[in-house]
Amino acid sequence: MSPALFVTFEGPEGAGKSTQIRLLLERLQERGLEALAVREPGGTPLGERVRELLLSTPGLAFDPRAEVLLFCAARAQLVATVIRPALAAGRIVLADRYVDSTQAYQGAGRGLDRQALANVLSFATGGLMPDLTFLLDLPTEVGLARKRSGSAEWNRLDQESVAYHRAVRRGFLELAAREPGRWQVLDAQRPADDLAREILDAVLQRLAARSERPGDA
Ligand code: TYD
Repeated sequence: MSPALFVTFEGPEGAGKSTQIRLLLERLQERGLEALAVREPGGTPLGERVRELLLSTPGLAFDPRAEVLLFCAARAQLVATVIRPALAAGRIVLADRYVDSTQAYQGAGRGLDRQALANVLSFATGGLMPDLTFLLDLPTEVGLARKRSGSAEWNRLDQESVAYHRAVRRGFLELAAREPGRWQVLDAQRPADDLAREILDAVLQRLAARSERPGDA
């Protein structure tokens, strides 16, 4: 059984997370490693319904606390039914967003208290934290322009002000600075192939460290 590893990808809009997750998944699977990718909010039938409610229901208004709890409901279902079972089976899980997105978008973005959010997040996930988190960072305007010109859906949160998205970016950078052992901050404006190589190397290094110390897995 290969050692389980939980890897998350975070970043503002238009950072190219989904491209990097696809490339990493392919490269891990080419090496015979068992890996799967999930996205948030979503990744389960319940989570996909909540995603639609949160991101694509025109005219629906959210109190910031209600917004947090809906993201957490989708996440609790994903952790319980997909992520924990996969890790228990020794798989590598790649997640497109996780708890840090709530701290950045609802905490830094909406001004909700960080410690209160940490408590709710810990309840939703049963305390499951990633082993490794990549922050694909880029200037707010560049990211929003990339998203606007790309094929991705333009959702309710994309429509927030530039000031909101700047606060989200700062939130991510602060989270990364507070826990440098878990985070790797990457310049998302670098060529995708370069980024993919660096991300793969970092994941392979973590896996090698895990195999040497199986008690930690
Ligand atoms: P998505 O279309 O998946 O965008 P992206 O490719 O940028 O991830 O939309 C997810 C949106 O939900 C995105 O704007 C970030 C936001 N979000 C939160 O506000 N809080 C959260 O906890 C999560 C997981 C996502």
